Amino acid sequence: MTPRILVIDDEERMCWALERALSHEGYQVITATRGLQGIDLAQKAEPAMVILDLKMPDIDGIEVLKAIKKINPSIPVIMITAHGTIDTAIEAMKIGATDYITKPFKLEQIKVQVKQSLHLSNLENQVDFYRQELVKKYGKIVGQSDAMKEVALLIRQVAKTGTTVLITGESGTGKEVAAVEIHKASNQADKPFVAVNCAALPEQLLESELFGHEKGAFTGATSKKKGRFEIAHKSTILLDEIGEMPISMQAKLLRVLQERCFERVGGTETIHVDVRVIATTNIDIASAISNGDFREDLYYRLNVMQISIPPLRSRKEDIPLLVNHFLEKFDPSRSKKISSVAMKILTRYNWPGNIRELQNAIERALIVCQGAEIQPVHFPKELLNSLEETTTPVINLTVGGFSLEELEKHLIIKALEKHNYNQTKAAKYLGISRPTLLYRLQKYGIKL
Ligand SMILES: Nc1ncnc2c1ncn2[C@@H]1O[C@H](COP(=O)(O)OP(=O)(O)OP(=O)(O)O)[C@@H](O)[C@H]1O
Ligand SMILES: [Mg+2]
Repeated sequence: MTPRILVIDDEERMCWALERALSHEGYQVITATRGLQGIDLAQKAEPAMVILDLKMPDIDGIEVLKAIKKINPSIPVIMITAHGTIDTAIEAMKIGATDYITKPFKLEQIKVQVKQSLHLSNLENQVDFYRQELVKKYGKIVGQSDAMKEVALLIRQVAKTGTTVLITGESGTGKEVAAVEIHKASNQADKPFVAVNCAALPEQLLESELFGHEKGAFTGATSKKKGRFEIAHKSTILLDEIGEMPISMQAKLLRVLQERCFERVGGTETIHVDVRVIATTNIDIASAISNGDFREDLYYRLNVMQISIPPLRSRKEDIPLLVNHFLEKFDPSRSKKISSVAMKILTRYNWPGNIRELQNAIERALIVCQGAEIQPVHFPKELLNSLEETTTPVINLTVGGFSLEELEKHLIIKALEKHNYNQTKAAKYLGISRPTLLYRLQKYGIKL
């Protein structure tokens, strides 16, 4: 498809010269000698880029620029300025012009600028496209705790360097999401993100998955297949759950990390790749090394930069944010709210399965909850049971078998017992004010 370029200039000679020069380069050129006509064409003809004169009789170039940017915020616009109006050109850049060129100029010069602007805009569109795909698939990182801010900072710092990164953290903490974030902020964001789960495949399949195979390499290899490393050339490969990789595969991986080359299974041709490697693990690699399950030399190759994602229980202030994030995700119209007692329970629980467990709890609660408000009864039993470290669980009943009132009454009594019937302390423990506690005591007929 030939890119269409819109030239807006009141000087007909200029329009004509640009049309000739740019058509010669293979672009399709349309012209307007009036600002308003230009805006109209920007709307109707959907050009890939605009060359715009800053000074025109009917309407100022800046106004035209604003209107065009409203129609399409990402369209590249090159401004033509006369000598001495550079300040206005800079103002135009602030509004969103991509570049400017000062009259008089050589046609060669504008050809180069047009090419660059279009190239850049293609790249940006591509990056945007991949970003959106990734956001759709992985979501974004939510978290405002100091620990997560630090993680976010590390991600930004490491992203552009292209260095190998090892992401550690318990199951469900968001290691994969962090890997995607690194890719999105990297210089390879315009290329696809390639992920391989090293724990999910048996050794032979993993090898062909990573390095590809030649036709006839093994039974079932009916055609040649590219491996993930080849697909990830010039981009990022995520080796997920690397701690589970079979030790014999680790040797082959080590070579790729050292020499950035490999052969396809059953092949002799050496394939060179330029790939950014990110690995994740939820097992303790140090102990895997001492058990002989993980190669120490590979560990050093992977551990150039380490980002460790803290467990959710150590950053509980992120829980309400995450809860709202997941409510939004699974119930975009926000038809269901969450009661404050329910939220309290969520913030108190220890979340051994981290964010994935929290996400599941919210998704499930939205399904189970028939009313407009999520209540503790809508949570899995282990969440309610864990509220008390005592041997008697708070609730022995199955979900749905007890009322919210019963649960709340029970929680209040437990809280009072725990704090020697000190109402201020019990209220604080429950996360409600003392007057609220008194009101509830009265409501439930609890006499002290
Ligand atoms: N900070 C976060 N904000 C929003 N969603 C998150 C965050 N962290 C994780 N998630 C979500 O939680 C789920 C688990 O995340 P992810 O798969 O990245 O975890 P993991 O650490 O790789 O887990 P595992 O070790 O089990 O593979 C995903 O659905 C992800 O979208
Ligand atoms: Mg994972």
